[in-house]
Amino acid sequence: MTPSVATARAGSNIAFVKYWGNLNHELRIPMNNSLSMTLDQAYTTTTVTFSNDYAQDSLHLNGSPAGEAATQRAADHLAILRQLAGRQEKAKIVSKNSFPTGAGIASSASGFAALTVAAAGALGLDLPQQTLSRLARRGSGSASRSIDGGFVEWVQGSSDESSYARPLAPADHWDLVDVIAIISTGHKHVGSTGGHAAASSSPFFQARLGELATTLPQVREALLQRDLPRFGELIEAEAISLHVMAMTSKPGILYWQPGSLEVVHALYEWRRTGEAIGYFTFDAGPNVHIITEQKYAAAVVERLRAMPSVLDVLKCDVGGPARLIDSHLE
Ligand code: DP6
Repeated sequence: MTPSVATARAGSNIAFVKYWGNLNHELRIPMNNSLSMTLDQAYTTTTVTFSNDYAQDSLHLNGSPAGEAATQRAADHLAILRQLAGRQEKAKIVSKNSFPTGAGIASSASGFAALTVAAAGALGLDLPQQTLSRLARRGSGSASRSIDGGFVEWVQGSSDESSYARPLAPADHWDLVDVIAIISTGHKHVGSTGGHAAASSSPFFQARLGELATTLPQVREALLQRDLPRFGELIEAEAISLHVMAMTSKPGILYWQPGSLEVVHALYEWRRTGEAIGYFTFDAGPNVHIITEQKYAAAVVERLRAMPSVLDVLKCDVGGPARLIDSHLE
């Protein structure tokens, strides 16, 4: 039988209101809605080939065989898609990120979105966005938000069927930019899956959920109104709230590095003097994501590049949806 192959490309996303903590760990039903923008220049390309010739699922990531845990996680995800398609063949997965893996740029988001779309394509499943989002969620919660492009909201839901992301506004709604200051490219000590499991042990967990009932609609409104100062103030507070929770959970997790805080303080100063405008947020990692508008981006990039603690700067515009592409990875 000829192998079934497909390749997909999916952008990562940066959350403005973040996913942290699960109602159901296995199904990745979150404790709150989250809201993000899909990124253009930070993406994963993944080719999936199903064939009876393979004895087991394999994963090649950025040119090398992936470790056991990552391979198992991908294989578990494929099992869900295989079951849906009523197929048995094992698969070879070849995947490549356009950015450093495990450094606070959500590689699991773009990774599982690309894997879902590629595997569905290779299995001949023609699925609506909502179903793809639900499936991607099973691999990594934030991946549910990388199926659609533009600005996206993952609706918490209460079951596998009702927890998925939906578009909030198209990519051309607002020319926001995520300027990522890369502080470290090493792997983090505690991944986000461990963070979600520990989240509810923070004494601030319930307080944060209570606060989100008010702040999430405010973030959504500021985004729809393209009100940068209001939006910026809200997302900075939200990022701090998430990291305070991580720091105070048991075990505590401190993702920030000295360089992360140097960037935050520099940003405060640039805003005060009017040199450069932008607002920070963080994923579960040390890199600083500076959210700004296109007209301010060059000034932010230039200043970040001059800072010794910033290893690299990646400018990402708002990206489009995950999609199948024609050229396969070897
Ligand atoms: C802080 O989606 O990476 O980036 O489902 O365990 O893979 P898993 O977690 P993941 O968590 C993302 C955490 C975050 C916030 C966010 O992107 O919403």
